[in-house]
Amino acid sequence: MTFKFKSLIAGSVMAAALSTAFSAVPASAEEITYVSGAVGKAVENFAALVKPWEEKTGNKVTLVPMPASTSDQFGQYRLWLAAGNSDIDLYQTDVIWAPQLADHFVDLSAAAKDLAPQHFPSIIQSQTVNGKLVALPIFTDAPALYYRKDLLEKYGKQPPKTWDELAATAKEIQDKEREAGAKDLWGFVWQGNAYEGLTCDALEWVKSFGGGQIVEPDGKISINNEKAAKALETAKSWVGTISPEGVLSYQEEEARGLWQSGNAVFMRNWPYAYTLGNGDDSKVKGKFDVTTLPVGGEGDTSAATLGGWNVAVSKYSKHQEAAISLAMYLAGPEAQKQRAIAESNLPTIISLYDDADIAKAQPIIPQWKNVFLNAVPRPSAPTLGKYNEVSSKFWSAVHDTLSGNGSAADNLAKLEADLTDLKGDQW
Ligand code: GLC
Repeated sequence: MTFKFKSLIAGSVMAAALSTAFSAVPASAEEITYVSGAVGKAVENFAALVKPWEEKTGNKVTLVPMPASTSDQFGQYRLWLAAGNSDIDLYQTDVIWAPQLADHFVDLSAAAKDLAPQHFPSIIQSQTVNGKLVALPIFTDAPALYYRKDLLEKYGKQPPKTWDELAATAKEIQDKEREAGAKDLWGFVWQGNAYEGLTCDALEWVKSFGGGQIVEPDGKISINNEKAAKALETAKSWVGTISPEGVLSYQEEEARGLWQSGNAVFMRNWPYAYTLGNGDDSKVKGKFDVTTLPVGGEGDTSAATLGGWNVAVSKYSKHQEAAISLAMYLAGPEAQKQRAIAESNLPTIISLYDDADIAKAQPIIPQWKNVFLNAVPRPSAPTLGKYNEVSSKFWSAVHDTLSGNGSAADNLAKLEADLTDLKGDQW
């Protein structure tokens, strides 16, 4: 029937008009399923984000929201992918997952041959495993130190340069404001739960004290050293003094919740919290600014962990062509610009850092280009398929230290032994 219809109209004057009409509303609209973690405005914005693609293709996208924790998402995705689940067409993937999940995703290098060169090469590189482009970047991430401009000004303080300065300023403002009636105010909120987010925070402490990157780019396990131990003991001293005890169960959203209700002087968080903090329902709207995270001491440099998210097409999808088209759209300039303006997510397309609309709506974005370009990667490249285990052993050692289960020095010595076992002859 289809064939007959085509041959009937072929060559006729009607053909051109009909084919134009058909390409505007394709006959075979497809239902595409996209899974993604739900942090900040991501779910709320998704419908607006994909609408232009849906209108252009006639396809429909269903978002399946996942837990906020990247560690929980990873566990679920790994199960689905191992089972060859064909209900999910696209996965939103964390920057650290490419080597571990590469086998389950479609190679996007041919489809993205013109798009990929528009992105920062290092980010494309991070998603390339043995020459296969396993996911396309949709935004990158590097954290900021959020601080209350109004409170710092009130007490004649500058944004802190060192972690000790941060603790002193936080404590002084916390104490004085509490005396004046702000009973619920805390000095500093961050991500202390035992999950991937703690790996990010703790890598920043360790690196900014000159204690290395857990596992170095050449595969060497470096974490058992005095500077790393000092960094962790420093963080432990915040718990229950400038940070609530509950910080040991905080992820990004819990920290943001406390901050946005006006109950924190400082917060460590990713750029998504910038636009939300300036939202109409935020108590800190217009009262805060951002700067780079502090350093351990003189001669040390600030460290921001490199984060970021990508889109990958499942090998088990039954709608691969449409899924690839959606991946290309989400990684392309139109969607990245929309996401930058609506969610203050950092684009991975180089030219968007010169975009006037983005700079006007979200000044953090052009300001943050050098921060993410100098950000510290987690050791997912050198540890290959074992990264998740490396990270979970690291965050457990850190969480133990912060909770008072053993000293940093003892916990890091044990971690070194565990990682050495895990490594075996090679990663
Ligand atoms: C952010 C980062 C991601 C990281 C996660 C940890 O979402 O973009 O890379 O793994 O935070 O919580």
